[in-house]
Amino acid sequence: MLYNDHNTMKNLSMMLFALIFALYSAETQAQEITILTKDVQLSMSLGKDGKLYQSYFGTRFNDAYNPDAKSHEAYIAWGMSDLFEPALRVSHSDGNPALALVYVRHSSSKDTDGSTLTRIDLRDTLYPVDLTLFFASYYEENVIRAWSEIRHREKGELTLNSFASNMLHFDGGDYHLTQFHGDWAEEMQMQTSRLTSGIKIIDSKLGSRAQMYQTPVFMLSIDGTSNETSGRVLAGTLEWSGNFRFLFELDPHNSLRLISGINPFASEYRLPAGKSFRTPAFVFTYSDVGRGKASRNLHRWARRFGILDGTKPRMTLLNNWEATYFDFDEVKLKNLFTDAKKLGVDLFLLDDGWFANKYPRNDDHAGLGDWEPNSKKLPGGIGALVNDARSKDLKFGIWIEPEMVNPKSELYGKHPEWIMRLPGRAEHYFRNQMVLDLPNPQVQNFVFGTVDKIMSENPDVAFIKWDCNRMMTNTWSPYLKNKQSHVFIDYQMAFYDVLAQVRAKYPHLPMMLCSGGGGRVDYGALKYFTEFWPSDNTDGLERVYIQWGYSYFFPAVAMSAHVTSWGRQSIKFRTDVAMQGRLGFDIDLKHLNERELAFCSAAVANYKRLSEVIMQGDLYRLVSPYDENRAVLMYVDSARNRAVLFAYTLNSRYGEEFAKVRMQGLDPAATYTIREINVFGNDHRTNDVRASGDRLMKEGLSVSPQQPLTSRVYEISRD
Ligand code: GLA
Repeated sequence: MLYNDHNTMKNLSMMLFALIFALYSAETQAQEITILTKDVQLSMSLGKDGKLYQSYFGTRFNDAYNPDAKSHEAYIAWGMSDLFEPALRVSHSDGNPALALVYVRHSSSKDTDGSTLTRIDLRDTLYPVDLTLFFASYYEENVIRAWSEIRHREKGELTLNSFASNMLHFDGGDYHLTQFHGDWAEEMQMQTSRLTSGIKIIDSKLGSRAQMYQTPVFMLSIDGTSNETSGRVLAGTLEWSGNFRFLFELDPHNSLRLISGINPFASEYRLPAGKSFRTPAFVFTYSDVGRGKASRNLHRWARRFGILDGTKPRMTLLNNWEATYFDFDEVKLKNLFTDAKKLGVDLFLLDDGWFANKYPRNDDHAGLGDWEPNSKKLPGGIGALVNDARSKDLKFGIWIEPEMVNPKSELYGKHPEWIMRLPGRAEHYFRNQMVLDLPNPQVQNFVFGTVDKIMSENPDVAFIKWDCNRMMTNTWSPYLKNKQSHVFIDYQMAFYDVLAQVRAKYPHLPMMLCSGGGGRVDYGALKYFTEFWPSDNTDGLERVYIQWGYSYFFPAVAMSAHVTSWGRQSIKFRTDVAMQGRLGFDIDLKHLNERELAFCSAAVANYKRLSEVIMQGDLYRLVSPYDENRAVLMYVDSARNRAVLFAYTLNSRYGEEFAKVRMQGLDPAATYTIREINVFGNDHRTNDVRASGDRLMKEGLSVSPQQPLTSRVYEISRD
């Protein structure tokens, strides 16, 4: 029944489309679209109904297309016949809530970065709505990035209610989800649970510092649990620093759908005709030999493609945060420069507290937003510090938190319209501060200007620590007016725009991504950053677990790790733990005795010799702190000539004897010398061992010390 001209046209065009489609699909329905890496395969095929189906995901095989493969619609839109959670839900401008997507065309090409880009175009059968699925596959690294893009030519706006980057289907027997939750100073606590019928979601709704409770990463084991060397496992993460959602739905047939993307919560997005909306990429890898390989895949990809300058060396540093907090002046800092030289590190990093005059930043109640050096603490400004550091042959870096404002600041008075808060309601503070309205281009200029001013006035500044110490609450953007449901998304887009601007002008300036510890760690931001701050918790024991957690998804080259006075372990233990990332110190050297200081500077020298192996090598997690009273892990360089092994004993029970540890990643035919390094003072060094790679990997070696909270580091070299 046709009610009006508009509907008549719609129905006619639908019939025409169906006819063209039927002719087209007669030829193409046997077609398979395959996204391939060295070991992984994702296959999609065309159904007789014109829809796109996922026909296979898993270990690559060589057989030809199997038309009978069990299949699920690849990217399901809401409103037609599907009964479970959709990847995409929209409301058309006329209020109609459904989409029926059919295949239009696909193509595949080599991208400039060497990856293969496959695009699959789908279209609604009734409305002028187009959806493109993108898959970038990184052959050698076995990593796939998947995102989607939606456009339309409707008369009014199309409302996007939910819009996943990607949807994947599994037909395994038994699914186990490993997630990484936490809180400030308790980041990346690993927890595995069996997925049961219904929906499990891991997500964030915090806006900025979005990952305070959940990092946007997970591992999904299919057909039972996985460990480091066995099991079928997918490791996934989202290139997005804001609200994310991973949704796992197990249906009555034991099929699992995984929907990854921006969290649609409170984020309906109104899309004008002619504009397109592109989701962030879901980054994933798959391994049928356990988690170790999945991590190595991600690390290799991340170093080359995911992290700024990920294949370049990093600088060791001394940070003053824990040594001084807000209580410092020029003289004190210059003395710390001398300490940095004693340690032998490359750079001094000046932390919070250097700025603001009317409301000096002497604690965390005031000053955020007023990025002028405090003239009382620093009469010579930043310039005097940079010059002094230069004269000592030391690089200089500086802390900023440019997205934030304290009510006690000049900025707060000058630009009330730049601040996010609900009109008519009481302001809500977290760490005594509020979030600036980054969607506003003027605020973006201000944030970019904060970096640009420091850098143009002091071109020798060699490092920036970019912090973000609160999440969003009472959220309302003055700039977005009647589009408040855009705020979480537009904030992140604006964040990336500012970072792109910074990178256009300062392409290689090392920058640390920090967010009150690990509140913002993801590959959306790491494109612009050289490292991230995993946690404010630098207690050596806690860091063994925290760094272990991050290591599933992020390589050592990106992980800042500082020796501080958190934790009661020996300086050796804390330093050995920090050597597993980008080594730094954040400690008052006055608290170290001579032997401790000598140990630290020798460790810095060892680290400089070995950091390439640690940062660029392959990681093998050998003994998990979640399984035993110890942790053991090793890094092996690509030629398998050099390796570094870290053994941390966390606890030991009466009479407990630690088993030998079988190494991994060595050349079985080669002979290696294993030498203990980072030995404290006159402590006994374990005897060197010479053995074949074969033996070290089959028989193993005793590497763990007996005493609780002690550690050993071994340098392993091919003869
Ligand atoms: C955050 C960071 C710390 C330090 C402080 C300064 O908490 O994580 O490392 O920079 O801010 O206020």
